[in-house]
Amino acid sequence: MKIDILTLFPEMFDGFINTSIIKSARNRKLVDINMINIRNFSLDKHSKVDDTPYGGGSGMVLMCQPIFDAVKSIKKDNSKVILMTPQGIKYNQKIAYNLSKEEHLIFICGHYEGFDERIRTICDMELSIGDYVLTGGELPSMVVADSVIRLVDGVIDSDSHSNDSFNNNRLDYPTYTKPREYAGMKVPDVLLSGDHKKIDEWRKEESRKRTIERRPDLLKKYSVVRSTLKGNIELFNIDCNGINPKNNAKRTDMISVKNLKIVDSYLNENVIKNNIEKKIEKLLMLIMKVLDTESTDDDILVLDEAERLKSLIINKYKKILGEDYVKYILKKIDYIVLQFKSSKIYIPEEIIEKSGKSR
Ligand code: ADE
Repeated sequence: MKIDILTLFPEMFDGFINTSIIKSARNRKLVDINMINIRNFSLDKHSKVDDTPYGGGSGMVLMCQPIFDAVKSIKKDNSKVILMTPQGIKYNQKIAYNLSKEEHLIFICGHYEGFDERIRTICDMELSIGDYVLTGGELPSMVVADSVIRLVDGVIDSDSHSNDSFNNNRLDYPTYTKPREYAGMKVPDVLLSGDHKKIDEWRKEESRKRTIERRPDLLKKYSVVRSTLKGNIELFNIDCNGINPKNNAKRTDMISVKNLKIVDSYLNENVIKNNIEKKIEKLLMLIMKVLDTESTDDDILVLDEAERLKSLIINKYKKILGEDYVKYILKKIDYIVLQFKSSKIYIPEEIIEKSGKSR
């Protein structure tokens, strides 16, 4: 793969291309990276590359000519020209994977206040690395180049990225190394068991749990469909990579149902946990109210509410949420009550804001 980076600050890339995996990929000729100084293409006698915006406004705008000429000098039929801009499509692992199959990438790094709108016309793709504005496209182009290069065949062991976070819309499972116990924290037994089937199952499950806890949005496309009806009902992926059976397809392995519930047991667990957190917020708001009255008559309201919440968790949710979580959440409620009793309660800022009070 060849990567050309058009920039006004080639020196920013020194560390990037001369360190670690990127350096080794270059040495092994798996990737060829060149920084091209946009200024070298300026036709101005002072090597000017930017000018003030038409219509007024602050800052300088990168001009068309040096960029058009620079791109023209290197672009081939197999090149993909990528403009780095916060207005581009949001970069992700899938795009990284697709770009890693390209032969030639040309990155254009804008700087200062922006670039002439007409530069967009010579680009195949505009990429943003997130909803924040950097001083230029140099860091974003390094982010994209780094994530693409590691996926190029041979750069790293392909096993290392087959389990990457975001592959198959899942976050990576937790990993451990020596020692077996550190600061009282033990490596899970299954990883020391030598039973690879069990280890694989554990990893799949942890990756799934982790995704649901931290990034449930990634799983939306992969919900399992279950029916409440008994019988032979397929479990299938909602996102079939764009291929769906046609409406009138005659398939004996599919049945029509009037009512489908989309349920994911872990999602369910997450919803319950959220509800419990909301109930704790309510308890804190009640505490604020009671503390405001400066009378101790209403203290019983808080204690009642805390007890009610605890028995709800024990009686209704213990089975779903598991011993450890229930123990943790009950302790949390007890702690809040203890603080309340000693009148030294700490109410988090966001709860104070939600209740519309100032303290
Ligand atoms: N240039 C400045 N900010 C950027 C961003 N967030 N993504 C891509 N290019 C940028």
